[in-house]
This record gives sequence, structure tokens and C-alpha cells, in this order.
Amino acid sequence: MYHAAMDVSLIFRKKLAQRVAAALGVTLAAPVAFVGCGAKVVVDSETTGTGGAGGTGSSSDVSSSTGPETSSSTGPAACEGGTGEVTSFLACIPSDVSPSCPTAEGAYPSIAQSLDFCSCLHSVDVGPKPDPSGNGLCCYDVTIELVCAVGRPLLAEDGPAIAPVEAARRGWSEEPLAPNVEGLSADAREALAERWIRDGLFEHASVAAFSRLALALLAHGADESLVRAAHEAALDEVRHARLSLSLAAAYRGAPLAPRGLPEALSLPLGEGLVELAVSTVVEGAVGETLAAVLASEQAERASDPAVRQVLTGIAEDESRHAELAFRVLAFAIAAGGAPVRDAVAQAFHDAAARLPPPPPEPPLPADVAAAHGHVPRGDARAAFVRAMDDVVLPLGRALVEAA
Ligand SMILES: [Fe+2]
Ligand SMILES: [Fe+2]
Repeated sequence: MYHAAMDVSLIFRKKLAQRVAAALGVTLAAPVAFVGCGAKVVVDSETTGTGGAGGTGSSSDVSSSTGPETSSSTGPAACEGGTGEVTSFLACIPSDVSPSCPTAEGAYPSIAQSLDFCSCLHSVDVGPKPDPSGNGLCCYDVTIELVCAVGRPLLAEDGPAIAPVEAARRGWSEEPLAPNVEGLSADAREALAERWIRDGLFEHASVAAFSRLALALLAHGADESLVRAAHEAALDEVRHARLSLSLAAAYRGAPLAPRGLPEALSLPLGEGLVELAVSTVVEGAVGETLAAVLASEQAERASDPAVRQVLTGIAEDESRHAELAFRVLAFAIAAGGAPVRDAVAQAFHDAAARLPPPPPEPPLPADVAAAHGHVPRGDARAAFVRAMDDVVLPLGRALVEAA
């Protein structure tokens, strides 16, 4: 069974890579080995709650000042819209500006910037501490909250933004879906409801992300086909949100809906093609590809027919969104030339060191979780690595080399 699932997953990735390559008119080279957590950052995670791998990070320059071990620096922004899964780990950043390390407070911006797009920095708790790797890095105990997105996130300053959910509210969960809840305890049903609420809220936020993309494409003079595809993708996300929240409502036995998402109005669109291209690498080329591959693996293992049908449709739609992201990159490079191409190359390089953490583990037996659409974190993380190796990085390389 496991090998069969792996084969299907491999076929899905190959098809996705070929589909995007054909849309771009590029030829793919061999798969690229994923760099992983990067050489410049040490991550030694210890997760509270449901366990699993911790956050990842990459390097950034640091404004240094001398400082012994100090405690707790909370940043300017709270982790709104997080999953509640809190992880503590040792984050190490280079001290290449000065021979000494910044205080916990001084290191906060650099550490926050180094986190992947699925993590929000709660606090820098203790540091600087000695670098256990012996490479002379500046290390700090930090606490993050996982906010991993499914598909294109609506990125606010401190991480992905999602709306709060309101119980018993109608308007987003009326799709007639009937997952099999026979034999599930009340706790198991609620755990599954929470799992699908989380996905549904990220899908809901993706609607805003694609609306912003459509406006940015209009602003930069993109072809009708790209502008239309961005709007169609937003409608896909409306459907994903409705389907996910309808599954959640079915597990809970009561309607639910997102409340307002003020970030949809307050986030800037970005000014230039470079900014559009870099965000498209992170949010689209990486985010949508990983979402497509994860949904495909979840669908393959889901024995519940309603869940499987939803996930199969989402995997296909997210593949189209990944293709759109690469088409947007091709447009931005063609329109902006070498500066955009170089920024895209750098963004893919950075992405190769920022694997997002997989979704949190629901408190359920593994077979029940799989039947209802969840892949264990270890398997999800492996799927992310394969997606980077087989799809994202080869396509990114081919795109840049063809420019
Ligand atoms: Fe998407
Ligand atoms: Fe989606």
C-alpha cells in the first residue's frame, strides 16, 4: 500500500513538472537535491503539543552588538492566526557584521526574517548562546508558532493571515458533504473538524492573495490570460474554502464560517516587478507546488470517499495554481529583464533552504487521521522535500537559464 502510494505520488510530481515545463516552453534537467535547513542556521527543535519537526530558517545579515546571555525579547507583532502549535528551538544566525553577537532584542528582526513563511516568531527567549556547531554563529532559544499555509498564503508582516472562525455561522459550510463519522468519538470528530477548519481558513485567505495578485498583474501590464487565470484561481480558492469548511461542519455537526479578514485590505500590493516575482516564488512556485503535492498524497491515502474527492480536486487546482505562479515569473522576467531574473534566481536559492514545516498532527490514531485526509508530519515533510527536488527547483533553474 505504501509503495503504491509512493508510485502515485511520483507520477503526480512528474506530471506536474512536465505540465509547468510545457507551459513555460523549457526543458527540465535532472532533479535537484534539496538543500534542507541550510548551512548557516542550526535548528534543534523541541516541539510542545503534537510533536514533529520544528521550524527551519536561513541566514540573514545581523546588526551586532556585544551582549551576554539575556532573556526574552518579544517582537513588535503577535502571531495572529496561528495554529496554536508552539515550538521552541535553537536558532543560530551569522555574526558577520561584527565579531560579537546582538542581544536577544537586537537579534529579533534577523531571526524573524530568517523563518520560513509558515512560521511566526513569538519571542527570542534566551541568548546569545554558544554555537553548538562550533561555526561561530550567534545562537538563541526562540519560540515560534506554526502557521503553515495550504496553497498561496496571504502574507502579513509576521506571517500568514487568516480570519477567525465563528461557530454556528452560516455562509461557507453548506456544501452537501457527508464524510463517514460512524464509529468516531466526539473528540475524534472535533479533532477532524479543527483540522479542516484550519485548511479552510487558509483557503479563505488565499482568495485575497489571488485578488491581490490579479491587481498586481493588471498594474504591470500582464496579458489577459494571466489576469484571467489569477481571478479564476481566486474562485478556485473560494471553492476550496467552502469544501474544507463544509467537511469541518460535517464532522462537528454544526455550521461554521470565517469572520472578517481585515488584512485583505491593509496589505500593500508591492511596488515593482522584483517584489512581485520574489513573492511569487515564495507564495506560488513553492507554496502552491507543496500544497498540490501534499493534497495529492493526502488524497491517495484517504479512504473516506467524500474526503478523497475533495482532496483530489484541490490537488488538481493547486497544480494549476503552481503553473500560474511559474507563468507569472516568466512574465515578470520578460518584462523586467536581468534584475528580475537575478532576484528570482536568488529567491529560488533561498527557498531551497526554507522548507516549511508540515501541518500539525491531529490528536488521532494514524489510520483514522489518514482515512480522513491527514498525512503524518514525517511523511508530509518527505513529500515537501520530493516536491522541491522534482518540481520546484528544476523548474526554477530551467526558468532562470532560459531567460
Ligand atoms: Fe491555491
Ligand atoms: Fe486552495
